[in-house]
Amino acid sequence: MTQKVRKAVLPVAGLGTRFLPATKATPKEMLTVVDKPIIQYVVEEALEAGIEEFVFVTGRGKSAIENHFDKPYELIDMLEKKGKLKELASVTDILPKDTKLFYTRQGAPLGLGHAIYQAKSVIGDEPFAVLLPDDIIYDDSENALSKMIEIHDRTNSNVVLTMDVPKERTQNYGVLDIQNEKVDNGCVKAHGFVEKPAPENAPSTLAVTGRYVFNASIFDEIEKTTPGYGGEIQLTDAMDSLLEKEDFYGYILKGERFDCGDKFGFQQANLYFALKDEFIGPKLKNYIEKISAEKIFTDLKSA
Ligand code: G1P
Repeated sequence: MTQKVRKAVLPVAGLGTRFLPATKATPKEMLTVVDKPIIQYVVEEALEAGIEEFVFVTGRGKSAIENHFDKPYELIDMLEKKGKLKELASVTDILPKDTKLFYTRQGAPLGLGHAIYQAKSVIGDEPFAVLLPDDIIYDDSENALSKMIEIHDRTNSNVVLTMDVPKERTQNYGVLDIQNEKVDNGCVKAHGFVEKPAPENAPSTLAVTGRYVFNASIFDEIEKTTPGYGGEIQLTDAMDSLLEKEDFYGYILKGERFDCGDKFGFQQANLYFALKDEFIGPKLKNYIEKISAEKIFTDLKSA
């Protein structure tokens, strides 16, 4: 009988240097996509997949994240008095009543593996999810994390979300070694993981994206992991060594993935979710149509 996945770890200690000066005093996870901070999209995705407890691994200057998920009594009082019910719901209904939030600090930027390890005592001996908040994963018809949890429930194995990337991009990701395994039911068995390999050394073009479901045994592997790529304790290296004892599956991403740690991905996310918004979507569509005939647009070279 497998244990239910009810807890998730969200590493949010990163400095967001790619978004300076916006991130000088604001955590990158609090940057807004349409009308919600990035972190709220990720938390909502996890809630939809059945997560009940969140461990945020934070760092200095990240208190806005704690404040965002806290109850703003003065604001609630003011919105109630003014009868602004829609706005009231938008600040009070973010989390179901029984959701538990824990915050712990990473202390030093020693890598993703090290960040996840900080959650060990809160996770205990249970399987858990990891969501990297740089990535917003979205699909109208399925929640990828739910699918991954289903695979874990069925197999008791570890699961990562994966997507095919152009060969020249492997050095931006953890990459799966799948040997001769075939994709079956949207899933592929992994035989190895390499962090950010150069294209010529990449064992495949299947990249680990920002969602993981682990058994608690990953903590023992992180504990043994020595600094790897970039001199950091890499989660990917711990995953590779856990493979000697346990199975890992890659679940192939079907929907959209927006890399909000990157300026282009962030703009894509804003455009996508704004177009889906029933109020601003139609206006934005008209605006895009209008400017696509104008000089600012026609002067652009294609990437
Ligand atoms: C991290 C992981 C990498 C993974 C990527 C997904 O890298 O180390 O294995 O493929 O997230 O976004 P980062 O983007 O933090 O450099």
